[in-house]
Amino acid sequence: MQNTHMTTVTNQIYAARRARFAATLGADGIAIIPTSPERQRNRDSDFLYRFDSYFHYLTGFTEPNATLVITGDGKSSLFCAPKDMEREIWDGFRLGPTAAPAALGVDAAYSSAELDALLPKLLENKSSVYYPFATYPGLETQVDGWLSKVRARVRFGALCPETQRDACAVLDEMRLFKDASEQATMRRAAQISAAGHIRAMQTSARMLREGKDVREYHLDAELLHEFRQQGSQYSAYSSIVAAGANACVLHYRADAAQVKNGDLVLIDAGCELDGYASDITRTFPANGKFTGPQRALYDIVVAAQEAAVAVTKPGCRFIDPHEAAVKVLAQGMLDVGLLDKNKVGSLEDVIANRAYFPFYMHRTSHWLGMDVHDCGGYNEPSELGQTTTRTDPLSNEVITNRPSRILRPGMVLTLEPGIYVRPAAGVPEQFHNIGIRIEDDAIVNEGGCELISRGVPVKAGEIEAIMRE
Ligand code: GLY
Ligand code: MN
Ligand code: MN
Repeated sequence: MQNTHMTTVTNQIYAARRARFAATLGADGIAIIPTSPERQRNRDSDFLYRFDSYFHYLTGFTEPNATLVITGDGKSSLFCAPKDMEREIWDGFRLGPTAAPAALGVDAAYSSAELDALLPKLLENKSSVYYPFATYPGLETQVDGWLSKVRARVRFGALCPETQRDACAVLDEMRLFKDASEQATMRRAAQISAAGHIRAMQTSARMLREGKDVREYHLDAELLHEFRQQGSQYSAYSSIVAAGANACVLHYRADAAQVKNGDLVLIDAGCELDGYASDITRTFPANGKFTGPQRALYDIVVAAQEAAVAVTKPGCRFIDPHEAAVKVLAQGMLDVGLLDKNKVGSLEDVIANRAYFPFYMHRTSHWLGMDVHDCGGYNEPSELGQTTTRTDPLSNEVITNRPSRILRPGMVLTLEPGIYVRPAAGVPEQFHNIGIRIEDDAIVNEGGCELISRGVPVKAGEIEAIMRE
């Protein structure tokens, strides 16, 4: 993903985003958007570099040590690492400020070494300065330093910005709605991830048929193989590959546990492609054939996800898929005896008292985009003043509710219901240690939603069929 290879069409998309953002700053506004710093892993090794999502959204530029400055008149300046033949021999190509305007379509570019000298000049006579709040430790202090240099010039007639504002507010709202090029990238990311899941499922069944000692890391390796083979840069988050009881640990990482005949395996893994995440979970029988109790719970989760999909459409609210899924999960828990009607009462009681919570303790959805838990408000902005309160029956906490976000075309969210059964008194033993989640990625469109991650099937019979291959 070298920036020098970017097409003019792509540059137009970034330029249009910068123009939209600039138009919200006011004529005397200025925004400072740095990319992520490089981070040390140990001694002289760094973590694999990942650019800042906001910065990349506005530039497409992937190098570290860069800052974008946008002013209300629509002009953009990039500060980037200067050309340095010696460093480039060690670390690789740098675009450099001379080539940056033509390559990226920014109006001007300077060396990052000039940031401290030039920022006070750019801030002078502006009224508001925007930057991402509470994101990069030290940035606030840096802005303070630049502003104090402007203030020193006030007695010579300079104006100093009076307002500081969070640049994320506007950018979060822009990023919440994915344009056609973003949707195309996300579709491709989801296809690659789906292929990785199929590969891991088939490897599990094949290795067990061959009598091999299967470990979680074997399946993790299959995912990574497919991600990289198809050109994704890396995993969008640490893959969860959880065999047997490990599936009940929500944030379990792929480790070394044995994947045994008769176990279920829960894999939550997705690749990142050109800055966009995918996020898929499948739960499958290690040997390719569900047992009776596994299948009983699995089919409840499938039905819960179908109910969630049905209300993922324009006009419905963000919370609707969750509520639809909870209803089906709770009814299923009553039907199979995970919940005892004599103790918990009717379906309405189970929902009102959150009696399902020990077996389903997370939300069904989150926004998905450049970040796996993507930015964007979960409350409807046109109804922010309307609040209701309720007392949570489990924690007794008083919760303030604002109306949930109304779904609109271009939003992308996950649909990920599950059931997790830890052994406990009164819980039927046949279900102990079963953990199931099914997670797909949905683009809201005019008519409903497009499930972009269905390159890997969900129905139990279809999973068994591909695992026989
Ligand atoms: N993989 C993180 C999540 O599902 O939210
Ligand atoms: Mn997710
Ligand atoms: Mn996930």
